[in-house]
Amino acid sequence: MKGIILAGGSGTRLYPMTKVMTKQLQPVYDKPMIYYPLSFLMLGGIKDILLITTPHDLPHFQELLGDGSQFGIKLNYKIQDKPNGLPQAFILGEEFIAGEDVCLILGDNLFYGDIRFFKSAIAAHKEKNDGISGRVFAYSVADPRAYGVVEFDKKTKMVKSIEEKPAEPKSNYAIPGLYIFDSTAAARAKSLTPSPRGETEIVDLILSYKKESKLGVEIITRGVAWLDTGTPRSLLEASSYIGAIEERQGLKVACLEEVAFRMGFIDTEGLQKCIAALPKSIYRAYLERFLKEILEE
Ligand code: DAU
Repeated sequence: MKGIILAGGSGTRLYPMTKVMTKQLQPVYDKPMIYYPLSFLMLGGIKDILLITTPHDLPHFQELLGDGSQFGIKLNYKIQDKPNGLPQAFILGEEFIAGEDVCLILGDNLFYGDIRFFKSAIAAHKEKNDGISGRVFAYSVADPRAYGVVEFDKKTKMVKSIEEKPAEPKSNYAIPGLYIFDSTAAARAKSLTPSPRGETEIVDLILSYKKESKLGVEIITRGVAWLDTGTPRSLLEASSYIGAIEERQGLKVACLEEVAFRMGFIDTEGLQKCIAALPKSIYRAYLERFLKEILEE
């Protein structure tokens, strides 16, 4: 399965923080936001990833992450000139997807916890036994009005309705920025017409799968944290959350080098190389300790 991270947009809700540096490179506690969705795809076993961003921010992402080889993955880059809508990710990524299944994650979406829900969705998608070729997730939130909202039958998981940012939500289940589609996503995205706000909408793409009874929805249980980073307040809360977990456990969330090693994408030598490239820092000290533990095992 291919992975796409959509990390463009104007980030105006975080202005002036985003005047110079894009939202997805802002810190979430001790590392840039992009580390979280990237590590999440890696934990799902996805190694071939396209990062889509603005012309202004592309060099920054490239400087930060390079071609991914240090993490044993392949990172490709593509520019989105204007934020014309989330479905555009599939059009820009059509060549990259090259007829395979694809998982899109938004660069400002952060998941933490037991990610078996993600692994099993990927596995089910690969098996293709259930006739489902578009998968979205549902996560209970106190106020779903800022999100795509899905209403579904809890027993049969049949989707009844999907609406983008409804004033009167029909359920408390928000659709996180994580989508698994087959390769028809690009063609479907091309056939969408822009909504009144001038963008094509991800809900319309999702609904095209529903129309053909090919849409599946998986509930993400409350044991998983799905955090939002769209406003100064939610960014602060996400940082506090990650900080609390990391300081309590003495383990880092979304440490790309550690994830790469634990997933078997790099070996001890690869990890040593990564560490050698880091300046003296808390982050490096953490990885040095991790390496020492591995070597002692
Ligand atoms: O976070 C989950 C929500 O993400 C979903 O529940 C909604 O259904 C979905 O539409 C989306 O809502 P947002 O209000 O967060 O969408 P926004 O337009 O802010 O874009 C989300 C991220 O994607 C943001 O970081 C910017 C980036 N983006 C957005 C667009 C429209 C791009 O890189 N390119 C784009 O064209």
